Amino acid sequence: MNDTFLKACRGEKTDYTPVWFMRQAGRYLPEYRAVRGKTTFLELCKSPELCTEVTLQPINLFGFDAAILFSDILIPMEAMNLKLEFHEGRGPVFPDPVRTQKAVDELIVPDPDATMPFVMETIKLLLKELKVPLIGFSGAPFTLATYLLEGGSSKFFYETKRMMFESPVLYHELLQKITDCTSLYLQAQARAGAQALQIFDSWAGVLAPGDYARFALPYVQSIIKDLRQVTDVPIIYFANNGSTLIPNTVTAGADVLGLDWRINIKDAIDKVGNHAVQGNLDPMALFLPQEALEKRVKQLLDDASQAKGHIFNLGHGILPQTSPDKARIVVDAVHRFSGK
Ligand code: CP3
Repeated sequence: MNDTFLKACRGEKTDYTPVWFMRQAGRYLPEYRAVRGKTTFLELCKSPELCTEVTLQPINLFGFDAAILFSDILIPMEAMNLKLEFHEGRGPVFPDPVRTQKAVDELIVPDPDATMPFVMETIKLLLKELKVPLIGFSGAPFTLATYLLEGGSSKFFYETKRMMFESPVLYHELLQKITDCTSLYLQAQARAGAQALQIFDSWAGVLAPGDYARFALPYVQSIIKDLRQVTDVPIIYFANNGSTLIPNTVTAGADVLGLDWRINIKDAIDKVGNHAVQGNLDPMALFLPQEALEKRVKQLLDDASQAKGHIFNLGHGILPQTSPDKARIVVDAVHRFSGK
């Protein structure tokens, strides 16, 4: 078992800098598209055999230092009693958005083992195959709530902010239910064998810091506090577009702070105190020619040299248009420049 990634998460010394990419299993890989071509996205997420296969693809192809469970942050929202669809070219759709007291009351807090056995089964299958740690994950309650409230992806988050400001009590009831669901879901993943957990707060950056502190952060803190009672696996918290939120996100309770590319990693390291950091190459940098790309990798490693622990990653998910060769170039460069 190569535990370099876990050591970096805990801020221990490592022989080299571990690397993985958010969304490393996905459409930029022809091997993923071949599997995906035979089924729908939701069916794929519910097949432990296929989830195992696509999780392993980038590990076997490029030698990443950690694997991330193949699933989606919205899977547990379906288990909360919501209709969920994925539309080609548009992404996730909740045809019946949650905007009223009645809709919030109708949400259930599901037993993850009973309602999402395919996730736990995938984790167990992966543990038999993997020689690097397996990361389980969830969405953060605020980010999940935006999908429920908007009915899908959004640009302006009109319904979300409207409920926050017009009906804060109802907003809190909704977020509390999502929090309870997420807390149990992550605990179940750790029980099934996930060796680290990442919480994705993809839309945290649309909030003003004061609103983030009131309407998003407390729910993440509560999930992490619950997790600490039952497991000691490292926890990574990624608040996308969150450089102005760092004074708040450091109080989430995670071991590792995920960073997007909008901040120089050196400046972030000065602000995160005793935490390890993960990030933060702009995913578009993978469109640079090889030499320029390798130079950026080197620069990033140098800039992160004073971190308590550094896990190399992109600042957000790898884009579907990326050439797989570039993923290989980055992984090799991180390993080579950091002394593997
Ligand atoms: O390697 C991995 O990271 C794969 C596992 C994974 C997926 N989604 C698979 C997926 C993970 C960790 C996610 C997280 C996720 N899902 C997030 C948080 C990370 C982020 O990008 O901010 C969010 C916001 C979602 C919700 C979601 N799922 C959207 C908005 C979309 C559509 C946009 C898109 O990228 O297609 C999805 C679909 C999705 N999730 C795909 C994959 C591989 C593409 C579906 C397909 O194959 O057609």
